[in-house]
Amino acid sequence: MILQNFVVLEGTDGSGTTTQLELLQKKLPASSFVATFEPTKGPIGKLLRESLRGKIPLEPKTLAYLFAADRQEHLYAPEGIVSHCQQQKLVISDRYVPSSLVYQGLFCGDEVVAQLNQDFPYPELLLYFRLPPEIAAGRYEQRSERDIYERLDFQKKIHQRYETVLPRYCEKGGTRCIVIDATKSIAEVAEEVWRALSHMPILKTICEAGTSQ
Ligand code: TYD
Repeated sequence: MILQNFVVLEGTDGSGTTTQLELLQKKLPASSFVATFEPTKGPIGKLLRESLRGKIPLEPKTLAYLFAADRQEHLYAPEGIVSHCQQQKLVISDRYVPSSLVYQGLFCGDEVVAQLNQDFPYPELLLYFRLPPEIAAGRYEQRSERDIYERLDFQKKIHQRYETVLPRYCEKGGTRCIVIDATKSIAEVAEEVWRALSHMPILKTICEAGTSQ
């Protein structure tokens, strides 16, 4: 099932999804736009972040279960994604099911992860921030805190998996997928993102409401 008004940003670590979401937050009215992310800021998301920082060791399959549990809350809690989308808000999430398929699939096998995530709705639109792993490494290596996944040899595998997993995921769910050239400058990428979003009926409604005020 497709969840209308729901958009997902995906890409390897360092591909710039978080930066672009922050820019959109400045541009769009808070009354009709929700920017969100996974792992979430809820209790399961916090546990996941601790583990990704290498502070709590967890089995790969445990991580896959926890990401799915965090997502269940993210979608269906009272102030969750589904509720916002149904209230005719545009919801954009920095990472979603494809991250689990790509990252956890590498350790646990594709089948296990696909099964854990099979009941979750598909987004209306998915923007894939494509960036060669060598360029991405130059970005995340400058950060003060690093995740266990932020190593070039691992990110090369992740990059390859995105290239095969995303087309399959989008075809299965009927999600529209647009590739963003993430090698470009922040301003140029922002333009590409805006162009991609502008085809969505909800964005037209938001912009029309903005100009009529
Ligand atoms: P990221 O968006 O990079 O957060 P931050 O920039 O704050 O560290 O996400 C953190 C990591 O979580 C990233 O390396 C990918 C990983 N991840 C998974 O392995 N599976 C998932 O299902 C999700 C949502 C994220």
